[in-house]
Amino acid sequence: MIDIIEQVRKEVQRIYKQIDLKYHIEIVVDYSKILAEKLCADTEICIISGYLHDIGLKIGDKEDHANSGAEEAEKILTRLGFSAERIMLVKSCIKKHSTETREAERTRIEEKILANADAMSHIAGYYYVMCVPHLYLGMGFEDGYRWFKKKIKIDFEEKITLPEAKEMIRDKYFRLKEIIDEFNELTGKT
Ligand SMILES: [Fe+2]
Repeated sequence: MIDIIEQVRKEVQRIYKQIDLKYHIEIVVDYSKILAEKLCADTEICIISGYLHDIGLKIGDKEDHANSGAEEAEKILTRLGFSAERIMLVKSCIKKHSTETREAERTRIEEKILANADAMSHIAGYYYVMCVPHLYLGMGFEDGYRWFKKKIKIDFEEKITLPEAKEMIRDKYFRLKEIIDEFNELTGKT
């Protein structure tokens, strides 16, 4: 019998575009797994939450993708025979993963791990630099740059709260920040 993680991976291959999988989702899953192992969290819950956390942007209400994604995840996981008790754990990670959720609301380590891994991926996968503002938000070059600059600052300073996560992503963030600072000089804008 194929394990649940493999089944979820197959499901999401049908939901996300290849570009989302390669430059965001799979990176979130990798960081979720590393952090779960480092912090002795529930690795299976972290990996499944990583795969499913953004499905609300694809098959749910995009305006409220964290909550709609949690509902869609429940439907998928119920169909795959995952237990109701463990589905609730995945749902709570997905519901609390977005920037709108205050850190204090993330009480379980698995919830913190998903939010941290999501933010780490924005920095490590260059997804916010190259893809999201232009492909999904219809922004031009400079607007996209300003949006990205603000987002990764919030990701690094506010959303990446686990010391282990911050340590892992620090060098990549400061390399990106150097490029941002050079670009500020070029555009004369902040
Ligand atoms: Fe995400």
